[in-house]
Order: sequence, then structure tokens, then C-alpha cells
Amino acid sequence: SLHGRVTVPGDKSISHRALILGSLCIGETKIHNLLLSEDVLSTINALEQFGASINIEEEINTTIVHGFGIGGLLQSERKIHLGNSGTSARLLIGLISSCNVCVAFEGDESLSTRPMGRVLDPLKEIGLEVVSKNTDNLPLEIRGATLPVPINHKLRVPSAQIKSALMLSALNIRGTSTIIESSKTRDHTEKLFEYFGADIETRMNIEGDKEIRVNGQRKLSPRELDIPGDPSSAAFFIVAALITKGSNLRINNIMINPTRSKFIDYLISMGAKINFINEYSKCGEDISDIEVCTSSLKGIKTEVKDAPSMIDEFLILSVAAAYAKGESRFCGVAELKVKESNRFDVIINMLNASGVNCKADGDDLIIIGSGEVRGGTTIKTDYDHRVAMSALILGLGAKNKICVDDISPIATSFPNFMEIYEKIGGKFYGG
Ligand code: S3P
Repeated sequence: SLHGRVTVPGDKSISHRALILGSLCIGETKIHNLLLSEDVLSTINALEQFGASINIEEEINTTIVHGFGIGGLLQSERKIHLGNSGTSARLLIGLISSCNVCVAFEGDESLSTRPMGRVLDPLKEIGLEVVSKNTDNLPLEIRGATLPVPINHKLRVPSAQIKSALMLSALNIRGTSTIIESSKTRDHTEKLFEYFGADIETRMNIEGDKEIRVNGQRKLSPRELDIPGDPSSAAFFIVAALITKGSNLRINNIMINPTRSKFIDYLISMGAKINFINEYSKCGEDISDIEVCTSSLKGIKTEVKDAPSMIDEFLILSVAAAYAKGESRFCGVAELKVKESNRFDVIINMLNASGVNCKADGDDLIIIGSGEVRGGTTIKTDYDHRVAMSALILGLGAKNKICVDDISPIATSFPNFMEIYEKIGGKFYGG
């Protein structure tokens, strides 16, 4: 059984954005509890190459950013390596798209297969030019617009990365850019734009879509901010406690922004005993401690409209569904195919290999849980941090051991995952 108190690292999405916005300010931005994972280090490295000065003071968990200001980004002489980080790639493409620089981005094997056309295409409308032979995948060489024209774009894919790329581009475009989204995606960029004093307005239009207007070429104000715990990292320990007999965990300081915490609502509908304790708000985000204990779970149907708000949690939710009794259906989850790995297929293969019946039905995933998992298999992580962590949690309650071929990708988002796991009573066997 798992017991104790857990503090998960700072939120990954907010960490990338805080660094980028700090870099767009003249003056000192102070960030507490920044996630120091490989993905975020990729963003730091890129911003330093663009001229920001970023100083990590690890002993006091604080990072100081001195930025280059809106439009002050420098030409980088070297290629910029973004490792495994899709968020760095998409957000930084947006950032440079309205600046007069030429940048070469490259990434690891997984990032080099991920679609970038979804962010490049709308940015071409403002004047971004793709110089490289590749037009949809890294490595890419792109030139920002010299005279960028305001964006007016309705998102075709419900993606916070595309939305944020366009918003970041708009910050250096004279005039008003409008970005419209019809399916809700995480809204940290909107909140942080307001926090840093950008000229932004959001409203619901008559079609019921969210309209974001950004007036560009206005100064941002440097800020001090404290990043709350990442709910997507907490999700692994929440499910671990739910499926492991006699467990009781308290997870501190978790961000419960509704565009991120949908998976908790679904777990509660599955029968999870989860309590929110000590709720409060900081830097525009709602935060809570979460208490979770072992629960009998039943199958669940998730709605298409909720998929973007829990897109990073379907892997671990599939583990909960495997230990639940009855059928679960995750509706409209084709986006899982273009994550760090093809998570749609990974879920099917991982569960079937562990003795749990799982299949695709169009863009839906169906999992038939019996309350038990046979295990006795090896899961390939395929450069995907969340596959590694989900497979390790799947193995917790399985009758036979589950092996994970490579746990090194975990460092992209959650460097101290194994340490926390062992601290609360979990056991892994290496080799
Ligand atoms: C993220 C958005 C999501 C998510 C990713 C982080 C972000 O991607 O999967 O881990 O920080 O904006 P999409 O925008 O592609 O859905």
C-alpha cells in the first residue's frame, strides 16, 4: 500500500510559458517552483540563445529571468535543439514568427515525427516563411515575418499549443489579432498574458466560441510568480493510490484549473474517493491539496468535448479503467496518435499484452475492465515519459510483473518520479 504526503513538481505548461513571457519583459522576472525537467531546459536553452539571461538558483527553487523584450529577440547563430519537447517547438515557432530572425530547430527522434504544419500554416498567413525542405516536421528552418500582419484565425485543431503559438506571435504584431477556439483547451497563456500586463481581451462570441483579442507591440511588465504542482504529474500518484489496496495519499499544492482537472471529475464518477482540501488561488490559478485512498472503480464514458482538457491523462486513465469493473469508452481521442508516441495504439497494445481487453472503435477507445490485471509483459516506452510512468503504475496491482524497457524518458517531465514513488512505499526492481 502507498502512504504519505507527496509534492509533485511545478506545472510543465506554466513553466514553459512563464519563461517565455519573462523573456519578453525588460527587467527581472522571478519564478518560484519552476519545473526543472528536460523539456523545460530545452525552452531555457532556446531562450538563452535568443538573448535572455536565465539563472537557476536550485537551493531556493527560484529562477530569475532577464528578458530581451517584445521584438528584441536576437538571431541565434546555432541550431536550436529542443529534445523531446513539443510544447517548446510549437510555442517557440509562434514566438519567432513575428520577429525578423531566421531559426533552425531540431529535436529527438520522437519530436521529429510530430506534426508542425498545424502551427506553421496559420503563421504563414502573418508572413512566416519555411526555408527548409521539411515543411511539417523538425528539423525545420524558418524565417519570421519582417512586417507581420495581424492574425485572424479560428483553430481547426483544439490545441493549446497552436492557440498559444498564435498568441505569442500576436505580441509582436502591430494591431489586433483575433484567435477563436470552439473547444476549450488549457487557458494558461490567457491567464499569464493578463498577469504580465499584455493587452488581451477574451469573450464568448454569438456562436458560443471563445474569442481572444491581443493588441500587439505593447510592453509586458516583469513579475514574480509561483508555479503550482502539475496535475498531469499528480495523476500518476492519484491512480496509483486508487488501485493499490490499503493506500492513502495526500498530494499537496495541485493546480485544479478546470481546463486541466477534468480527469479528476471522471475518476470521481468512476467511484474514486478523492477529497479537495485547503483550496486557494495564486497567480490566477486555483490550487488544492488532494487526498486519495483505495477505491473500487467502475467503467466510465468520457465525452468528446472533454478530450482536450484531459488529453495528457488518457494513458493513466486507461490504467484506472483496466482496474475498474465494466466497460469504459474514451470518445474522440484520435489526437492521442500524435503525442510523444502514438498513445492511441500504445494503450491498446499495453493493455492487451497485460491481459485487459482493449480495442479501437473509430476515434474511440474501449476498455473492458474486470477489476484485475494479469500483467507478465514488457512495455516499450518509445521516447514517451507518460507511457513509462503509466506502465509502472499498471504493474503495481498486476498479478505478474510488468517490465518497462526504458525509464529515461520520465526525466522530460518528472525527474524525481521514482524517488517519490519509493518514498511513499512503492517498489521497483531494476535490471
Ligand atoms: C500543452 C498542450 C497539449 C498537451 C501538452 C502540453 C501545452 O498539447 O498535450 O502536453 O502546454 O500547451 P496540444 O496543444 O497539442 O493538445
